[in-house]
Amino acid sequence: MDNDIVLAQKIVGRTYLNLSSNSTFHEHSFIYKSTNEELSNINKYFKNKNNILTVISSGDQIINSILEGALNIDAFDISSFPKYFLFLKMAAIKKLSREEYIDFFFESTTTEEKYDDLYDLIRKDLNKENKEFWDSLFDYFDWYDIYNSTLFSSEFKSRSFIENENIYLEENNYNKLKNTIDRVNFNLYTGDILKLDTLYNKEYDIIYLSNIIDYVDKIKYKELLNKFNLKERKFILTYLYEINENTRNFFFENNYSFDNFENTKAGVMIYKK
Ligand SMILES: C[S@@+](CC[C@H](N)C(=O)[O-])C[C@H]1O[C@@H](n2cnc3c(N)ncnc32)[C@H](O)[C@@H]1O
Repeated sequence: MDNDIVLAQKIVGRTYLNLSSNSTFHEHSFIYKSTNEELSNINKYFKNKNNILTVISSGDQIINSILEGALNIDAFDISSFPKYFLFLKMAAIKKLSREEYIDFFFESTTTEEKYDDLYDLIRKDLNKENKEFWDSLFDYFDWYDIYNSTLFSSEFKSRSFIENENIYLEENNYNKLKNTIDRVNFNLYTGDILKLDTLYNKEYDIIYLSNIIDYVDKIKYKELLNKFNLKERKFILTYLYEINENTRNFFFENNYSFDNFENTKAGVMIYKK
């Protein structure tokens, strides 16, 4: 935690660079501001799934899954930073209106003081650890500097994409979350999913591995899918930006099926034992 704070301050102060040419993702790689996946096509898989394992990333997958019924959420990320952002977003949902939330996370392109005021509201709902982390940045920098540093991904997603893909941004859902978030139990893990073996024996209703497949050795990824303790009718989802012949040929066994979303090349690979 102390090390995370020191590094985050250096990253935002531009005296430490957390981008590495060897590996995109590592212990201190950037945080995604929003999902870049077509999550609107994935929600159906999360319906009534209480116990889930998912990536942390921008937090969006997790927040949407709560609306579908997730109550026990185990989540992992190789970078130690995304977990602080997840709790920042959840505290913001509780303290801000939907419009303020969208402004803060998806439209804040200026150094206006209003963002400090919004953070002052959000921090009231942060626990000690998360408050310490974000205070250590907001005490020295404004939101614009923080959000435009390499602590965050520079990938841009339009407001319409973000609103289309995140059901939690619908007014009714957003307001519903204000009451449900506190009922969720979280266990968060920092580490490479290929090595987080404490998770392999746990039982989940659904496991969501995002598109981590794009950044790891495919043989090791296949071995990873095999290692999970999957009971009958439980499955692991892998997000694919493009379902192509190479992938279908490599994952050809009966354990794998593919769901190609309508009007797009993207989809998910579904793994069952
Ligand atoms: C693969 S990325 C891409 C963004 C993603 N498509 C989304 O919409 O959020 C998702 C997250 O996976 C994490 N990640 C990447 N490789 C990982 C690994 N081997 N083990 C655990 N987490 C990993 C990254 O740090 C990032 O936060």
